[in-house]
Parts: sequence; C-alpha cells; structure tokens
Amino acid sequence: MNYKSLIAQNIQKHIDMDASQIEKLIEIPPQPEMGDFAFPCFQLSKVLRKAPQMIASELVEKLDKEGFESITVSGPYVNFFVDKSVLCKNVIEKVLEEGDNYGSSSVGQGEVITMDYSSPNIAKPFHVGHLFTTVLGNSLYKTYISQGYKPVAINHLGDWGTQFGKLISAFKRWGDEEALEKEPIKEMLRIYVKFHDEAEKNPELEDEGREYFKNLEEGREEEVMFWNKFKDCGLSDFQKVYDMLDVKFDSYAGESFYNDKTDAIIAEVDEKGILVDSNGAKVVMLDEYNMPPCIVEKADGATIYATRDLAAAKYRKDTYDFKKSLYIVGKDQALHFKQVFTTLKLMGYDWADNCIHVPFGIVKFADKKLSTRKGDVVFLEDVLNESVSKTLDIINEKNPTLENKEDVAKKIGIGAIVFTYLKNHRERDIVFDWKEMLSFEGETAPYVQYTYARGKSILRKFGAIEGEVDYSKLNSKEEFELIKLLSNFNDAALAALDKSEPCMISRYVLDVAKAFNKFYNNHSIAATEDSAQKNARLKMVEATCQVIKNALYLLGLEVVEKM
Ligand code: ARG
Repeated sequence: MNYKSLIAQNIQKHIDMDASQIEKLIEIPPQPEMGDFAFPCFQLSKVLRKAPQMIASELVEKLDKEGFESITVSGPYVNFFVDKSVLCKNVIEKVLEEGDNYGSSSVGQGEVITMDYSSPNIAKPFHVGHLFTTVLGNSLYKTYISQGYKPVAINHLGDWGTQFGKLISAFKRWGDEEALEKEPIKEMLRIYVKFHDEAEKNPELEDEGREYFKNLEEGREEEVMFWNKFKDCGLSDFQKVYDMLDVKFDSYAGESFYNDKTDAIIAEVDEKGILVDSNGAKVVMLDEYNMPPCIVEKADGATIYATRDLAAAKYRKDTYDFKKSLYIVGKDQALHFKQVFTTLKLMGYDWADNCIHVPFGIVKFADKKLSTRKGDVVFLEDVLNESVSKTLDIINEKNPTLENKEDVAKKIGIGAIVFTYLKNHRERDIVFDWKEMLSFEGETAPYVQYTYARGKSILRKFGAIEGEVDYSKLNSKEEFELIKLLSNFNDAALAALDKSEPCMISRYVLDVAKAFNKFYNNHSIAATEDSAQKNARLKMVEATCQVIKNALYLLGLEVVEKM
C-alpha cells in the first residue's frame, strides 16, 4: 500500500484537483509529532480564494478516517497519523511478498531515456573522474529500469580526434608493441606524456600529429591500422574496470562512430542558415546567448568534439526517439553542452530542450596528486584494487576466520568507493580518504553492508519463523520509525530520478541502516518473550535486509551475507 496515493485519493474526493497533483504536494513532516504525512493547503488557497487554515479545517471534517489513528489540523496543514499496526503489517508483508522487486514501479511506461556516461578517452590518460560518471550513470540506469523506463546506456568513447594523430606519431617514435599489449593504457600514457614533453622542445611534432589525424580521417590504411590497435587495446583495459564494477553498456558508439555523419550535420547547419565563416573555420555564432561560437569545422577542415556531439544528438533522437537524453559529464564541460544544445535548438530541433547535461564535481585524493599530463596519474584499476586489498587487511584483523574472504573484500572494497561517489550531491567535489571510506562506522558503504550482514546473522540465529506473528506488537518508537522508512523506498528512487541524484537513495539507505541499529540497540530480540512479538520483529528484520539489498542494488553495490 502506498500511503501517499491513498491519502491523495481520499483528499481528491473533496477538492477539485488531480489525485496525482495532490500526491506530489503531500509531505513527510520532519518530526513525527507533526504526523506521518501532511498536506499543505497553500496551493488550494489561490484556487478556492480562501485562507489555507480555513481549507484545512473544512477538509479534515470530510476526510475518510479509515486506516488512520487520527487526522488533525495544524494551521494550514492537514496532518495524517496512520494506524500503526495496519501500516506495519502492510509494509512488512508487501516488502516480503515483492522481494527483489520491492521499490520498483511502472511509472516510466516504457519511455526511452538515452544516457551518455563513462565515455573515457582512449588515447588520453583517464582519471578517477571517469569513475564518477560511470557509477552515477550505472546507478541512474538501474533506477530507471526499476521504475519502468527504457534507458539506453551509451558509452560515447573518446576514440577520435587529434590526440590519435599525436599517439600515432608518438608510437612510431617511441612505442613498445609488447607493453601496449600487456598494459595498453599505461603504455599509451607513457608515450603521450613523452610526446608532450618533446613537443615543448620541438613544436613540429604537433604538426606531425595533426597530419596523421588528417590521414586517419581520410581513411588511410596505416593510420587506421594504428587507430584500431589503440582502440582495441584501450577498450580491453577499460573492460577490466567495467567487469570489476559490473557495469554494462547498450552501445559503444563513440566519437569515431560519427566520423561518416559529420559532413551531413555540417551541411544541415549550413542549410538552416546559421553557419558563419570565421577565419576559415565554420562556426555558429552564439553571442545572443552570451556564449562563444560553437565551432563545427576547424580551419584545416577537421571536425571537432562539438561536431561529433551534434551528429550524436541527432543520431540518438532518430535511432531511439528518446524522451530525455542525459549527458553525465563533469561540470567543466557545462559550456560545451550549452553550446551544442543551443545550436540544435537553432537548427529547429525542439527536442534539444530534452537534452540535459548532468554535471558532477571534481575528484581528489587526500594523499595523492591526480595530474594527468605529467604522468603521475592514479589509475582506476589500481584504486579499485587498493581498496579491495585494504579491505582484506581489515577483515584479516577483525574476522580472520571468515569464509570467502576475497569475495567479501571485493564487494566491500569496491562498494566503499562507489558509495563514496554517490553519497553526496553530485556537484560537490570529492576528496578520497581511505580511512574514512573503509570505516565500518559513519556514513559509509561498509556500515550499511555491515548492518545487512548483522540482520542476516540474526535471522540465521533464530531460524525459520513459526507460529503467530502479531504486527500490532511492533509498537515502539524505534520500530515504527524504521517501518515508516521502509515504506518510503519507492519515493527515494523516484526522487533520485527526478533530480538525477543517486544520493537520494544512498541517504535513504543510510537512514534505514541507522534506524535499524537504533532499534537493535534498544530492543533485544533474544529477550523478547512473547513469541508473536518476536516473530513480528524477525519479519521486520527480514524486510529491512531486503530493502537494504534493493537500495544498494540501485546504487550498484552488492550485499554480503557475512562479514
Ligand atoms: N570523452 C569525454 C571526456 O572524457 C566525455 C564525453 C562525454 N560525452 C559526450 N557526448 N560529449 O571528457
């Protein structure tokens, strides 16, 4: 049972407003004394031309009281206190019945959402920022599926551009074939860095790089051969990281995919009458929007990042007919996306309004620099491995006899990193701090996972639940708070989609874990003598574990049964 929609239907019978609109207005008050749900009457006041206080007191007389302990008025608010034993029973039974599906819905009605995320650059060194877009995208992708949408995960690989010319030049001079096979990204980074160092002394190298890229765009055999090699090797390296995170994509159509589609898009921009010549380059002027021009073709005739993004946006609309098209990319590219979307709008494409840049903050390490040009890069794979091995150390210290230690360490270690990314609003910068991240206390993944494992160990200890279950005996403050939280999972998932903020889910699951531990620290299940009450408590523990598992799944984390 969803209380919000139940209350909305109840109210709708007495006022002239859509139930779905009413439902959106219903709030969850910050303090339990103010009710479990509250309906503010401010909005109605405009329509009905009456004071909100008046509306509230009139409404409360008419409402159906069934299922509620009481419905009261507090100023402009109608406050609903639900019948606790009905709520407890309904929520717990619903969670246990729906299992892994609890929290999902069909509100998306199969609407297509294209999602551009991860999208690392093959030739350039990549950074922990790409892990940010990867985990954000993966979490939103899973959440979209859970709410009945059809998301399309697109990895818009940076597999085209002048940097490939530079890489070809560098490889011909200093490349090591064997190293490229073994550790492709490291080898590419090595020669890329060397190229930049050498080019500072010898600027002609830059021209050579440009020349090679031009040849590549023209499809010359040798350049294409090199490019393919770099691309395959690079991808296989990324794949290791995706496997560790269990991230999958529906499409790997990266920048090179649009190579044969850029002529058409440039011609179209021209046809629409917005293409201007600027010192030999072809641009779209955006002064009116207080932006520098969007360059679609460079003076040497080569295309650039923006050209390929214009082609990609149109291709996605034509291919998938998306309702929304998300670009989960760092905030430093905000201007780029504004330019691209505005250009699309000027081309007459109203769907450009549904193209949305979802930016995120910068990632730093408390104890390491993350510069990419100089070569002292922190590699994604190394970061993940380090987290796993640090977790294994902790396990060896705390619980050396644990079974499947390696597997547990993997799930906890990787989960800790993923959670660190998703814990706060995405535009906030992140400073990685191993100690904090891997702590079993505080707002961390290990804390949530530990809570789950604790719940599971309780369930193992007491075995199968037999005999009467009396939910009306879950009458403590702690129990009711926990169960109310369990009932709000779907809201958290929808809020995450509404704002493209998985932190709505991570905050939620932290709240569930905290509420559970509060219960557990105040009430002993072992000492519960009344077996109908004990059984109800065990059911509540089971439901809590299920919700934690489902919420962590939406964040891209796995639970462990023991830790
Ligand atoms: N490869 C780019 C980068 O690493 C991100 C690409 C984002 N997607 C896009 N359609 N531009 O900076």
